[in-house]
Amino acid sequence: MIEIDWAGEAGRLRASAEGETDWNAAVARSLVRDGTKVVADIGCGGGGMAKALAEALPGATVVAIDADPDVLEQAREHTAGLVRCELASMDDGAAPLRRAIDAPADLIWASASVHHAADQQAAVDALASLLAPGGRLALAEGGLPARHLPWDLGVGEPGLELRLDLAQDRWFKAMRDSLPGSVPMPYGWTEALTRAGLTEATTRSVLTETPAPLSPERLDGVVGAFRTRIERLTGSEQGHGHGHGHGHGHVVSDEEWLTPEDLDAWRQLLDPDGPHYLGRRSDLAVLSVRSVHLGHAPR
Ligand SMILES: C[S@@+](CC[C@H](N)C(=O)[O-])C[C@H]1O[C@@H](n2cnc3c(N)ncnc32)[C@H](O)[C@@H]1O
Repeated sequence: MIEIDWAGEAGRLRASAEGETDWNAAVARSLVRDGTKVVADIGCGGGGMAKALAEALPGATVVAIDADPDVLEQAREHTAGLVRCELASMDDGAAPLRRAIDAPADLIWASASVHHAADQQAAVDALASLLAPGGRLALAEGGLPARHLPWDLGVGEPGLELRLDLAQDRWFKAMRDSLPGSVPMPYGWTEALTRAGLTEATTRSVLTETPAPLSPERLDGVVGAFRTRIERLTGSEQGHGHGHGHGHGHVVSDEEWLTPEDLDAWRQLLDPDGPHYLGRRSDLAVLSVRSVHLGHAPR
């Protein structure tokens, strides 16, 4: 059984909103199109993309929606009056979202949130139904697992980061299975957009690279994100790093996701007082590919 405590994640989501301003601004600019007046970010987390969209589309009304009040409070602070923040859940169908946005939307953005809905296709259908004729639905989901570490770290068996990704993938399946009323979606996001009645569904992926050596702030963020991921898989608090990834929350879980050998290696790598602390290395980097799937409402 896996439960995500979104309120417990609110601080991390805010840190992520603050740490990803460049990516958010670049993607928001790529979504600018004449006539985009009403925009909504569904499952907005710390409000990073909602703020970037408001800045890229100064004449537009931007509504940031999230199902968790503590998370929404972080979005409200981060967006500082640029965006209207509303509480509503994708799991309750289109009606509460429509009330929250209060007008047909020209652009709906949902990043790493639809995969938390019990019925993902129903959520995509609901989001598509909020669009004005010709409006666009953009789902930021998937991409490639980011790479940060050399293959051989000199601690534990080589390939530690790959095995962490695999453990997280198994965790993700268990998280989906744990959602009350969980419905499988055994096809990809462009297919889901098409089944929701949208046209010209396609995917754009953005590669982001920060070569080694990372700045102290970036290194801190990367190490914090690993700490969060290990805590998530072990259900334990090991410290107070804040992650910048698109993780899936602070969780309660009683399964073993990592081998004791890998767990021991991670503990050494994340121990600031130990000789193998990742935060003192100069060979960490960030290479990530994130995908945005876009569909258009018929005119
Ligand atoms: C992994 S976070 C992603 C946050 C943000 N969109 C981003 O990309 O950084 C998932 C967000 O979706 C929200 N969420 C989860 N289930 C939801 C639902 N059924 N309806 C609306 N929001 C939901 C969570 O509270 C959280 O803020």
